[in-house]
Amino acid sequence: MSVLEIRNLHATVEDREILKGVNLTLRSGEIHALMGPNGSGKSTLAYVIAGHPHYEITDGDILIDGESILEMEPDERTKAGVFLAFQYPVAVPGVSVANFLRTAVSNVRGYTTRPVEAEGRSGVIGSNLMPMREFRRELTDKMKEFNVDPSFARRYLNDGFSGGEKKRTEVLQMAMLEPKFGILDESDSGLDIDALRVVSDGINKLATPDRGFLLITHYQRILNYVKPNYVSIFYGGRVVMTGGPEVAHMLEEKGYGWVEREFGEAVAA
Ligand SMILES: Nc1ncnc2c1ncn2[C@@H]1O[C@H](COP(=O)(O)OP(=O)(O)O)[C@@H](O)[C@H]1O
Ligand SMILES: [Mg+2]
Repeated sequence: MSVLEIRNLHATVEDREILKGVNLTLRSGEIHALMGPNGSGKSTLAYVIAGHPHYEITDGDILIDGESILEMEPDERTKAGVFLAFQYPVAVPGVSVANFLRTAVSNVRGYTTRPVEAEGRSGVIGSNLMPMREFRRELTDKMKEFNVDPSFARRYLNDGFSGGEKKRTEVLQMAMLEPKFGILDESDSGLDIDALRVVSDGINKLATPDRGFLLITHYQRILNYVKPNYVSIFYGGRVVMTGGPEVAHMLEEKGYGWVEREFGEAVAA
């Protein structure tokens, strides 16, 4: 079992404190929904976990199985098993989905070259990339399994993708990278019902006992398809309440105005 632990995390962007003491624990086998109003810092938390250089951590820690990941570069965090799907994924014209995935998978699985000077030869052996045929076979299988159209493999990453297509691509990325923790920021926003189904089916398939999910969302909608074990309310840069699925239903009923009245003063203090 693996544990991702966020401890008293404080982070600033351009000298403004956005995260104000986040505490959250995500274990493998769990789906944890993080719900909060716009501007509460949910996406900031996702970027900070990913190691985005724009954010400065001023206090607290993020640990995987007891080891801090704060000193790790973003690609090392991916290698350590953290996958992040951003609210606004960037387009990479010129890089196909297949090429991007082959590079990412090869990094995560540790394909490397090895200098052979010590063996009395010159040059390097091995490859930084997973063998093409093996990769292709796995990609084709997973596209089928996760209902992603084969034509996606040749398209440029996120270039001209609709919201739904971006999210399908993220599901495919997770299926290939097999992370310990999947952190999905607003995977439901702007999706039509078909796309929402593909995304939630994908998450449900990938929600195995050896993997944990953090679903960051403003709306309760995706939780009709993906059943969380825990629901936390995020407000004013911290988690203000954690409970079971009933918390999501309560939020839907009472809205975020209730959160503000209930926790507004505590956060301002
Ligand atoms: N890169 C950034 N530069 C400046 N301000 C930022 C940046 N990222 C986030 N913020 C600010 O941090 C606050 C929280 O934003 P965000 O994390 O996107 O919230 P949420 O995802 O909950 O809607 C907002 O006030 C936003 O303007
Ligand atoms: Mg956001």
